Formats: sequence, structure tokens, C-alpha cells
Amino acid sequence: MLLLQQQRPSRAKHLTRYQASHRSVQSDNTVFIEDPSVDAIIRYRWIQNESGRKLLGPLLLPKKKEKNLWSAVCANRRYETVVTVIKDMSFRYLAPLMPTTKLSHAIFRSFCSQNKTRSPKSNKQATMAPSSSSEHPDVSTSLAGIPLSSCIYNASGPRSGTAAALQKIAQSKAGAVLSKSATVDSQTGNPLPRTWHAPDGLASLNSEGLPNNGIAYYISASTIAEAMGECSDNNKKPYMVSLSGKTLADNLQMLQRIATSPTRSKISAIELNLACPNVIGKPIIGFDFEQMDEILTAVAQVYNDNNNDNNNHQLPPLGVKLPPYLDFQHFALAADILNKHKDLVRYIASINTIGNSLAIDVYSEAPYISSNSGFAGLSGPAVKYTALANVRKFRSLLDASIDVVGVGGVQSGQDVFELILAGATAVQVATCHWIEGPKCFDRICQELQEIMVEKKYTKIEDFKGKLKEWSKEGANLSRLRKKEADTTLKEAQPTATTTSVTASTAAELTFYKTLCGVLVILVAVLCADWRSSIKLLPTE
Ligand code: DHB
Repeated sequence: MLLLQQQRPSRAKHLTRYQASHRSVQSDNTVFIEDPSVDAIIRYRWIQNESGRKLLGPLLLPKKKEKNLWSAVCANRRYETVVTVIKDMSFRYLAPLMPTTKLSHAIFRSFCSQNKTRSPKSNKQATMAPSSSSEHPDVSTSLAGIPLSSCIYNASGPRSGTAAALQKIAQSKAGAVLSKSATVDSQTGNPLPRTWHAPDGLASLNSEGLPNNGIAYYISASTIAEAMGECSDNNKKPYMVSLSGKTLADNLQMLQRIATSPTRSKISAIELNLACPNVIGKPIIGFDFEQMDEILTAVAQVYNDNNNDNNNHQLPPLGVKLPPYLDFQHFALAADILNKHKDLVRYIASINTIGNSLAIDVYSEAPYISSNSGFAGLSGPAVKYTALANVRKFRSLLDASIDVVGVGGVQSGQDVFELILAGATAVQVATCHWIEGPKCFDRICQELQEIMVEKKYTKIEDFKGKLKEWSKEGANLSRLRKKEADTTLKEAQPTATTTSVTASTAAELTFYKTLCGVLVILVAVLCADWRSSIKLLPTE
């Protein structure tokens, strides 16, 4: 298994990522994957023969014809289980098959796009957009008093460093656009390699060292105009700037520059990063409670000075990005400081990466990441549970005026749903955006809406912060729902069953043919033997 992952990481990784971002269902020898870009479900099947496993497919099954299967794919909301199973399977089954069949992700994609051209349906129809407007629940939210058309947007970090990248986010269904964390001057960051993705798709590491274009770039009129186009003008989509000064003085200077910038009114919020783990020799501020208080006190002073002067220098609402906390006492200490500064801090973004993690390459017997002795921030699906706990805990400890934005391991509508249930007002997407690109915002938003339709929720408030206590009744209901989903799944796989029966019948036929052949030869040999022994008998 280890060898397999190491030998063919790129193909396996591609497929894993592809599957991780799409709904899929599977049986023993088949996987069905929804591809929203084509009007079909993609089927991969494999059979076991003498020379090993042989991949059959991919095959496009029109949604129209495969109504049962299609509804099973749609109904399958147990993303976590299914996605994990599929991911695991992609290594054990699909990866070893791919070299033999010469199937690569690129071929797979082009295969899909050929069929897309032939498909009479438009792309929009091909995605699973519910037909009636009652099936489009409202995913808007209000964060620190700023209206967001969608509660899902990007985290500062991947794909947010340039105006071109920010423009793609602005043009997607993301509810806001947040810049890369800025320092006073532009900087190139740590040497490469500074990022790494686990082959199973569950975790990523980064130690980028804050590569960014400097504060002047992120608040310039040309960057904002290029990134936001029309969005920034009538506040259709908020533009937010993240700051990560290397010193307190740097942070104060950047705030002052925003306050006096002609673009100040186009910046809807500032997110102060108190959690960057990758500046060598600098502590993670959020873990140093004294320093955290000191910084917020100084920042409050800049806000007061500007907001009380008559020069129209009002600063936009402030949020702070926090590191993950793991201890109840630390949660309480951090919450006390934030509550003390509740007039300043309008939201927290929780969590940043789990700092100073390490991934080791067994072949080179060295870390994958070159700088900082390989220590780097951990992100991706593996950190979702820590994010959920941080959101839940902070929501219960913070003053109601401070919103909580959930970040960490979000890759599906279900992840967003869970974070909102835990108390998040909005959700940021980092690693999934990094891997899948800005189209993830559209997909995740649609998945969230589908869950809301199923649960008959029409707006975020219907379930925000409404996580229930564990109960026997709840656990029983959950078991029942899972059973129902399994049944739907089994009923919906006539093609797979028929084909697997055909495949096993063919194998049995070959077996019986061989057996008959062997028996015929055996009988012939025995006959010949018997006849010659008769001949040898002495005649009386
Ligand atoms: C970087 C990493 C972070 O986790 C963060 O919050 C800001 C910057 C980086 O290494 O570039």
C-alpha cells in the first residue's frame, strides 16, 4: 500500500481529489460518480481475472435513463462515509488498475467534455440545480453587520494573492472575497517545496512564509477594481483584507494605511491574523495571551483615533483569525480577552492551520517541506473536527455581538452545515479551494442548499447554533436513516448487479469448459490404458 502510494502519487491524487469533490456511490466492484459538468453519472467497474484486476469504463450513464441510480447518487448524503470509502478504494482498487488501462485523469476529463458537447442540455441544467425556487433555500448571512449573499467564501491563503485569483472568487458563488494575508512590504516567502498534500487527500501541509504582494497592492484601487469588477461598487460582494504584520508596529501601520486610503470605503472588513504559524522565530500570537491582549489594545487605539476624528477615516469592522485551541482553559482565556475587546472585534475566524505539523518522506527519510525543518501548518479534511470543536466552544463563550466564522477542512455542503449547526455565522474554504479552485464555492453552496431542502430549512438561522445534545432517540433515528439510504442504494444498482452476474457467469463458464476438457482427456487416457492392458492379457 505504501509502495503503491509512493510510486504513483499523481494519478492517484488526481482521482482521489476528483472523487472527494463529487458525490458518489459504490458497490463491491463499481463506483458511480456524479460529474456536474456532464448530464450523466460516470460509472467505473472492475473485474477480477487471472491477470489481476481489469478496469471497465469509464462509462457515461445518462441521468434520464438511470433514474433509480441517479436518485441514489442524489439521495446519498452520507458524504463523509461515502467519500472516505471511495478515497480508500481509489488506492486499493483504482490506482493499480490505471496504468494497465492507460486511463488518466486528463483522459477522463476530456472524455467527459466530449460527451458534454454532444449533450443537448446546458451546463446549468447538468448541475443538480433544483427546479423550483422553493428548492433554493436562502444561504445568505450577515457577518459583523455585513450582508453576504452566501455564507460560504474563501479563506485567506490559497489562491488569494493576486487580483486575477481574487477576481475568480468574485465571479464564483462565494459570498465575499478575502485577500491573502498582507505584510507591509511584498515578500516571496519560504523556499520551495513549501507545500505538501497527503496522497489520501485528507491532509495538506504548508509553510509558505507569507508570500504576498504587500499592503499597498491589496488596498490599491486597481487591484480592487480588477478583482471585484462591478461587485465592489454597489457592495454586492464584500471585499475584505487580511493583515499579518511581522510586528505590532507593522500591523498598526497597515491599519493606518487603510484608514487613510482612498479605497477605504471599498474594503468591507479587515481580518487580523493572530495565528500565522510559519514565520520562523515568531510565536503564534493567539497562543501568547498577554501579547494577544496587548495587540488588541493597541489596535483598539488606532480604531478609536480614526473613528473619532472628523476626517472620514473610519476603519471597516475587524475580525481576528485564531489558531486552533485544544484545552478548555485556553478557550476560556482567549474568549475572555476577545470579550474584553468586544467593541473592537466583530468576528473571529476559527481555525487557522494546526501549526508545526510534520510530514515525512520514507524514501528520503526527510521531511517533505524544506523550510523550518519541515514543520508546517496542517489543513484539509483532517482538521475539520478540531474546527467544529473550536466553533462550538467559542460560540458558547463569546459575547453574542462577536460572530464566529468556521474554517478548517470544509469540502462539502455537509461540512458547512455542521459548522453552522455548531454556531458559525459563515464558513471559509481554504484547502478545498486550493485543490479544486473557485468552482468549489458553487458546488458546496449547492450541496448545502440540497441538505436544507431535505431538512426543510429555508434559511441559515433555522439551524445556526442549534446543535442538539446526544440522545438515544437521535441515535436511533440516525441508524434508521442510514439503513434507508443503504436500501435505496442497493435497489438502485440494477446495472451493476446484472453486469457482475454476467461477469461471474462468464468466469464460471470458462471454469466448467476447462473442467470438461480435463475430464475428456482423463477418460481418453484411462481408455487407452485399459485397452492396452486388455491387449497385454494372455489369450487362453
Ligand atoms: C501563512 C500560513 C498561515 O497559516 C497563515 O495564516 C498565513 C500565512 C503562510 O505560511 O504563508
